[in-house]
Amino acid sequence: TRVAIVFGGRSPEHGISCVSAGSVFGALDPDEYEVVPVGITRAGQWVLTNGDPAQLAINARQLPEITADSGADIVLRADPTGNGLMVLDPTEGPRALADVDVVFPVLHGTYGEDGTIQGMLEMAGIPYVGANVFASAAAMDKEFTKKLCAVEGIPVGRYAVLRNGMTLSDQDKDRLGLPVFVKPSRAGSSFGITRVTDWAQLDEAVATARQFDPKVIIEAAIVGREIECGVLEGEAGGAPEASVLAEVRVVADHDFYDFEAKYLDDSCEYDIPAGLPEKVTRQVQEYAVRAFTALDCAGLARADFFVTPELDVYLNEINTMPGFTPTSMFPRMWAASGLEYPKLVNRLIRTAQR
Ligand code: DAL
Ligand code: MG
Repeated sequence: TRVAIVFGGRSPEHGISCVSAGSVFGALDPDEYEVVPVGITRAGQWVLTNGDPAQLAINARQLPEITADSGADIVLRADPTGNGLMVLDPTEGPRALADVDVVFPVLHGTYGEDGTIQGMLEMAGIPYVGANVFASAAAMDKEFTKKLCAVEGIPVGRYAVLRNGMTLSDQDKDRLGLPVFVKPSRAGSSFGITRVTDWAQLDEAVATARQFDPKVIIEAAIVGREIECGVLEGEAGGAPEASVLAEVRVVADHDFYDFEAKYLDDSCEYDIPAGLPEKVTRQVQEYAVRAFTALDCAGLARADFFVTPELDVYLNEINTMPGFTPTSMFPRMWAASGLEYPKLVNRLIRTAQR
């Protein structure tokens, strides 16, 4: 099987995508897969890299980066045989990207997890791992994730949306209460997020979020435990499956589960499986599968929840290309569910090739 791993990309999560891809490369059996490692620079240039996992790790808090020098240029243009839109044009001569059996877009955030590359691959007729155009776009956007999940009866917290130029009304301040989390509506890895405990901090927090997205979402803080659940598309037409749950506990010196806590320091502890009563575990898993279905997801997703001290469950968000880094929850939750990393990657590639 020829599989193109596409990684890096134009979003602020570029470096995390590189680390995720490094882990995926390490899990692919060279006897089974011919890997085409396609990097995308922050500027959007496509390059054929050597795919060396050693160059795709976090080193002394420095995240890896794909640059124009990371490999040979790939020229994207129409395939003259009409087989697809794109031709890979590396040093050994033109080769149709349509020749790969499947693309695994290990891309997080905008221009990767949001339906854009999925649309390009649909146009080119190339199978790919993960959610389709609609589900990717809907899950990338915290506003529409909440709207679609709420109509399916999944509890979500109170929120307000500030489109470009809008400010928060006094009614909304009363309705939300403090503290609130101010977030770019379409971003990931906690980029642009501020926890606001005084309305005087709001304008600055909105400006910070708007550096990532003109649309900002303001969420009432839910006091509760941070619980995550992996979902995989069912095999052979079966129902989607939920993993065991993970709990993330931020144990040191962070306001919340922010970028540093996620990737750069040892301030988090993880419980896999999460120590929750059986009934609550099943509720979270049921909501995770319901959310996966509500958004029309495919392949994989990680659904993130809060569980309050009263054991009420709220959906926070859904990631259609969750992190695959060595510390990431998604592969670890599946390993704890009996699906080791290489088997997980095999299954994702298999379910993409419908
Ligand atoms: N957006 C990051 C990669 C995650 O959800 O894991
Ligand atoms: Mg996220």
